[in-house]
Amino acid sequence: MLKINGLYKNFGALQALDNVDMEVKEGEIHGVIGPNGSGKTTLFNCITGTLKPDGGKVFFKDEEITGLAAHVIANKGIHRTFQAGRLISNLTVLENIMCGVQDSLGKALKDTMVRWPFTPSNREKEIREKAERIAEFIGLADVMNRWSNDLVWTERQLVQIGRALINEPSLLLLDEPASGMGPHEIENMEDIIRKIRGMGITIVVVSHEVKMLMNLSEIVTVLNFGQKIAENVPEIIQKDTRVLEAYLGTE
Ligand SMILES: Nc1ncnc2c1ncn2[C@@H]1O[C@H](COP(=O)(O)OP(=O)(O)OP(=O)(O)O)[C@@H](O)[C@H]1O
Ligand SMILES: [Mg+2]
Repeated sequence: MLKINGLYKNFGALQALDNVDMEVKEGEIHGVIGPNGSGKTTLFNCITGTLKPDGGKVFFKDEEITGLAAHVIANKGIHRTFQAGRLISNLTVLENIMCGVQDSLGKALKDTMVRWPFTPSNREKEIREKAERIAEFIGLADVMNRWSNDLVWTERQLVQIGRALINEPSLLLLDEPASGMGPHEIENMEDIIRKIRGMGITIVVVSHEVKMLMNLSEIVTVLNFGQKIAENVPEIIQKDTRVLEAYLGTE
């Protein structure tokens, strides 16, 4: 589903991604770990068009998407959450999820033109209903009419996922979905990620929560100083000496 060949990204003299190859198969949960600053978020940024890579290629469903604009890539079906992402503070939870919609200009225009003036938009109703279903799916049904400012951190992370899901992604990239969470909340996040995969969505997840990541992932890629140092099933990654030295040993 996603194929990355020899990806490079530098920030001045810093090599944030150094010849990274990666392949994500349809239907899998693919974990990415690595120490702070090893290039995990930069990898997501280069896949989604937030940053243009300096070298290498990204293919999505056999089509090259390297360096395309973020909204073009989003419309192809790749959506993401942001590490420590922020919500729109003067909107409710439901409205925040609704705002995640990244309609193509075509769809948005059709909705404005193909209706009588001053009648409510069908599209808005459709989006609202979809956002309600998603709020329920991620366990936020009880708080969907609350102001997003009033949410605790854990709930905010879930809203971010809701904002991505409303676009019906075929590939979902989650950047640190369980950061700052306690054990019980991490378990809940693990269940939700599994449920999302159960809907047929392929997932790449970056997380410092090693236990959750190893439980969830079919395959784990390890980055260190921008380079891929290992990629294997969790059982083998957990015993890999290079990985232990670079990362797991420091836990
Ligand atoms: N826009 C930028 N400008 C300059 N340097 C950057 C930029 N984005 C990232 N970097 C640097 O690139 C390296 C990789 O950063 P990145 O955010 O991808 O790491 P990460 O693996 O996601 O780390 P963390 O686990 O802390 O989230 C770091 O040294 C970081 O300081
Ligand atoms: Mg990061």
